[in-house]
This record gives sequence, C-alpha cells and structure tokens, in this order.
Amino acid sequence: MFSLIFVVGLLTQLVASDLPTNYEYFTSNGIHSGLSADQSEFILNGKTLKIYSGAIHYFRVPRAYWRDRIRKLRAAGCNAVETYIAWNLHEYESGSYDFGGGGSEMSDFLYLEEFIKTAQEEDLFVIIRSGPFICAEFEFGGYPSFILRDGEKLWVRTNNEYYMNYVSRWFNVLMPILAKHQFTKGGAIIMFQVENEYALTGYQDHNYLWHLRQLMLDNGIVELLVTADNPWKGTAGTYTEYFLMTGNFDSDVEKNLDDLKALQPGRPLMVMEYWSGWFDYWSRSHTTKTLDNFKTNYSAILAYPASVNLYMFIGGTSFGFLSGAQNLAFDDLNTGFLPMTNSYDYSALLAENGDYTDKYWAAKELLAQYNTIQTKLPDTPELISRVYYPWVSMEKQLELSYLIAQAPSFQTSSPVSMENMDINNGSGQSYGYVVYRKRGLNLPKNSVLKIEGRVCDTVIVLVNGKRVSPVLEKAADLNNFGTWRVNDSTLVLNSEELVDAQLDLLVSNWGRVNVGAYRQYKGIWQGDVLINDEPIYSWIMYALEFKQSWTNNLKYWQDVSSVVDNSSPTLYKGYLWIDGTPGDTYVYMEEWTKGVVIVNGFVLSRYSKMGPQQTLYLPAPLLKEGQNEIVVFEEFTPATQVKFVIEPVYNNH
Ligand SMILES: *[C@@H]1O[C@H](CO)[C@@H](O)[C@H](O)[C@H]1NC(C)=O
Ligand SMILES: *[C@@H]1O[C@H](CO)[C@@H](O)[C@H](O)[C@H]1NC(C)=O
Ligand SMILES: *[C@@H]1O[C@H](CO)[C@@H](O)[C@H](O)[C@H]1NC(C)=O
Repeated sequence: MFSLIFVVGLLTQLVASDLPTNYEYFTSNGIHSGLSADQSEFILNGKTLKIYSGAIHYFRVPRAYWRDRIRKLRAAGCNAVETYIAWNLHEYESGSYDFGGGGSEMSDFLYLEEFIKTAQEEDLFVIIRSGPFICAEFEFGGYPSFILRDGEKLWVRTNNEYYMNYVSRWFNVLMPILAKHQFTKGGAIIMFQVENEYALTGYQDHNYLWHLRQLMLDNGIVELLVTADNPWKGTAGTYTEYFLMTGNFDSDVEKNLDDLKALQPGRPLMVMEYWSGWFDYWSRSHTTKTLDNFKTNYSAILAYPASVNLYMFIGGTSFGFLSGAQNLAFDDLNTGFLPMTNSYDYSALLAENGDYTDKYWAAKELLAQYNTIQTKLPDTPELISRVYYPWVSMEKQLELSYLIAQAPSFQTSSPVSMENMDINNGSGQSYGYVVYRKRGLNLPKNSVLKIEGRVCDTVIVLVNGKRVSPVLEKAADLNNFGTWRVNDSTLVLNSEELVDAQLDLLVSNWGRVNVGAYRQYKGIWQGDVLINDEPIYSWIMYALEFKQSWTNNLKYWQDVSSVVDNSSPTLYKGYLWIDGTPGDTYVYMEEWTKGVVIVNGFVLSRYSKMGPQQTLYLPAPLLKEGQNEIVVFEEFTPATQVKFVIEPVYNNH
C-alpha cells in the first residue's frame, strides 16, 4: 500500500515536471501564424486556446518588481499579461520621448520593451492596449496635456486633423517598437486593442478607428486587432469588419456573453475587462468587491466558456500627480469633478503592495479547474516583507514665497491655464501647482476677490504671503470657497486697508478627467479674476511642478519653526536613515492635512486628510541604503513627523 502511494506520487511529479511551458506548447514546431479570431475559438499557431490574462500596468509598478508581479500572474495559471500604454508618460513633452533612461520624471517605469521581454521570459503572452486613449483612471486617460494647447480646433477621439497629427506622430514612434515584439516575429504580443470603450463617446467615428488601424498596419503591426466595449452598447464602438469586439463588464455574465456572441456570430468570445474590484475617489468611502461576487462572476465567465482578462490583476499605484478623475456632469467646466486617489489597489488579486489576496487563491483554483491546456507553472513567489521605519521628524522648511522665487515664471495679462504657460520647451505645465501673483495692489478694507467660473481644481489665496482662504481638511470643506464646486466664487481679502499689497493664488491640479470630457485645462482659465468687480490684469504665473532636479536643488532651507504655523503652504524636509537593504513600507499621512509627499526627489503621491486613502505605498525601489530625503509639501496644517506603517489605512473625515 505504502509503495503504491509512493509510486503514484512519483508519477504525478514526473508528469508535472514533464509538462511543456506555455511557449513550448504553442511554438515547439516553429511559428507559422499568430492569433486568429476567424472562427468560434481563438487559434494560435494552429492550436486552439482560451486566453486567461491579467492586467498589470508597467507604469503603476516599480520596474524592480515587474518580474515578481508577472511571475505571480503566471503562477496563478494565466497565460497572458495585459497592459495599457501611457502616451502621456512616454511623450513627456511634445516631440520628446522616453522609453526608459530618457530622463523624464517617470523614466524608470518606461522600459516598455523590458516589461514585454520579462513577460515572455516568465512564459506569458502579452496583450497591448495602446490607445491612444486608455481611460485607466489615469491622468487625462493617458493623453499628454500639451495637446490642449491647440484649443478649440483639436477634438480628441475623432478623425480631427489636429488630434490625428499628434496621434500619427506618436504611433509612428511607438508602433515600430512594439512590432518587434509580436508573436509571429518571435515575441510575446498576440493581440492589440485599438482605442478603449469607444462606444461611450457616442461619436461612432469609424474613420477614426480605420485611421488608427491604418497607422498600426503601416508600422508593421500584424497581430490580431480588437476593440473593447460594454456589450449593451452594441457595435457602436467598433468596426466589425476590421476588429474583433471584446466586452467589458463584471456581472450578468451569461447575458453579456450571449449578447457579445449575437453581435459577432461564429467568433471567439473574450471579456477584455472583468472588473476584479474597483477604485476610490477622494472624499468618498473606500470601495471593495467581495470574494463571493468575484468568484461567482469570474467562474461564470470561465464556465461559459470565454477568454478573459482580469482587470486588474494588480492595480498598483498612480504615482505622483498621475491619478485620474471623473466629471459626473460630463461637461468641460469641472462642474461634476471627482478626483481619484493615488492608490489603485483596486481590491484586485494582488494588493497594491504585491501581497496575495483571497481572490488570488480563488482564481488560481478556478483556472486549474477550467483551463484544459496543462502547462508548467512556477511556484508562487515568496512575499516581500514590509518594514516599520522609525518616525521621521521634519528638520527643515521652505515657505511658499521661497519656492515661488525659484520656480519657472510666465507673464500674462489675464490668468491662463497651466497648459498654456510658455514653459517646458513649448509644452506648458502638465502637473502640480500653479501660482498667479499680482503685485502692487491697493486694497480698501473688505475688498472682495472674485474668480469667474470654476477653479481647476482648488485654490489657496494669500495676501502678503499669509493665507486668507479656508482650510480644506474634510470632505464637507469642498463646499466652501476655494474648490471646483463653487462657481464665480468670492472671498473677502482684508479687514484693514492695505497699500502695495501682494496677492497670490495657489492652484492645485488634482488630476485630469480620464473619461467623458476633454477640455481638461488646469488653473484659472474660465474667466477673469476681479477685485471689487474690477478685472485684474498683468499677472506673473509660477509653475510648481516638483520635478526631481528642481526639488533636489532647492535653496534657502531654514530650520523648522517650533511653532506650528499654517498661514502659508510650506515644504518640509526630514531624513530617513536605512541600514542595509531597504524594504517596502507605507507613509501614514492622516495627521497632516493636504499636499504631496516626495521621496528622494520623486513625487510619491498626493495625500488628503479627507480620505479615504490615508497611507501611501512606498516601495523599496524608491528608497536607498543610508540617508533618504522625505519632503512634504503641506498646503495647510503640518504635523511634526512623518510616520510609517506596514498595512494600508482607510478613513474618511
Ligand atoms: C524641444 O522640442 C523639440 C520637438 O518639439 C525637440 O526636437 C527638442 O529636442 C526639444 N528641446 C529640448 C531642449 O528638449
Ligand atoms: C456579479 O457581480 C455583481 C456586481 O459586482 C453582483 O451584484 C452580482 O451579485 C454578481 N453576480 C452574481 C451572479 O453573483
Ligand atoms: C456660473 O455662474 C454664471 C453666472 O453666475 C452662470 O452664467 C454660469 O452658467 C455658471 N456656470 C456653471 C458651469 O455653473
């Protein structure tokens, strides 16, 4: 009996180690054809398959962790990884590109070819969703903000000439890079998605979709082209002659797949976005999706059966200023603005920090049950541990006026948007804060400031360097002066007469809308700024972008003041000493009010006490052995220390 069990056990082991890899299974007899969708099943190189994919955005995970996250995906039993391409990061200024090592702020995240090769080394195929529009709860849906400088004549997501000029230039750079990594050229990419949820625009501009396809073909793209839309939108977002339509949804699985099948009889079924969780907005409560919901809907897709991409497998982080926003009013005036948090944890299969969640183990079990093709899987990688670093006391400070003195500036008669400042080699300002300064004002007592239209997105008003506008601390404060919610807002500036006064308006950009409205200018641009009903002209604008080289070279730091002072936005600096190899951690910011945290020059994240996000995931690759600079730009009331925790904290105020 004992020996029989032993023999059976040994046989199973032999069989498991004899299994082919994914690539061996599909390519051991050479590569003759790419993915075909011309029949009811996908066929890759002569063999039928279901695509079991998971989304990992290379720009939301530090490069040093790509292999870890990708191997975890393969170990779950998936055979493909899906990523969007972030145009705004790669073309960081108009006509200037970075695919890793190019010196832009996000440079280390942009080694796109390395990401694709890593996926192939880890035995996964790659699905590329190259937009140009990607949505993704990402800043401006992946668009670079410099396209806004073309004004009214440019219209995104249509065959508009001005828009397509930018798209053509970009695709002519991007597509040749991707073409080298296609499956039939020996690479990993089996599928390209064109545009994203295009039906939602209502444009139905088939010339636009055709034009995008043509740009791809002209640049050597030969693999399968698809589109992705909600099935209840019909074929409004696709061009069935040229693309396989895939579906995005998370419930009513049978009905949605039946609809998709009816829309394209005799073709393979794929869910491009099965939403494993959801994202968070600043000022609203933290969202999750239950394990039961996940299991029910995901297994219904597998059982149907259909191919499926888990959106997200790991959400990761929208670092720095890169989180997106919604506009619930779908206008261009910021009326229904609702910004998203920087954490893109998404309640996905892996947590933002790379930990396995219960959804991971559930999916691994379901995939083992439903996948009929047995291939060799790696062991699930060990977890990466996290560290409670000692609290860091703030030692140095730099008030707003010192920052302004060191910032790029621009003179203008009336206020313009940050994108329209003539800085950054003609590309304008994309991210961060912009200050509008007016000098030499004589202000009778109780002078009234009026900002026409809506500020994009929040403003702090200072008179002679002292803040006179209210604190933005709680969600309810969004109804006060100084936020996007207030139209034609007014504020009393002074209770005593002032001569030769200086007025500063510090405007914070909370992220551009990633779907639905496209004139996403930031700053003050919807009208004039008036005092006592007289428009004010002749402003100097200052860009506070917090670019790495700028922040690292700031001068005039002073010792931190012993009195907590919230009369002016201020930059604070402290030092975290690390012995040995750094570990992952979270920065806990609930004791501060609102601003950004910068680690060794890299803008890690926004923070806002209103929540729900109170902790900022700080991955070890952003830290180093020895001294690390922790810089906080606090707009209102600072704390004296920055604290570290090892689990995320969600709270609303
Ligand atoms: C400015 O932009 C142009 C393209 O518009 C580019 O060729 C040039 O290299 C850029 N200059 C700098 C200094 O980045
Ligand atoms: C699928 O998910 C939806 C939304 O998350 C949920 O309401 C529904 O109960 C789930 N479907 C099933 C069949 O459980
Ligand atoms: C803002 O207020 C002005 C005048 O009070 C009004 O004409 C305009 O429609 C308002 N705009 C928005 C977007 O609420």
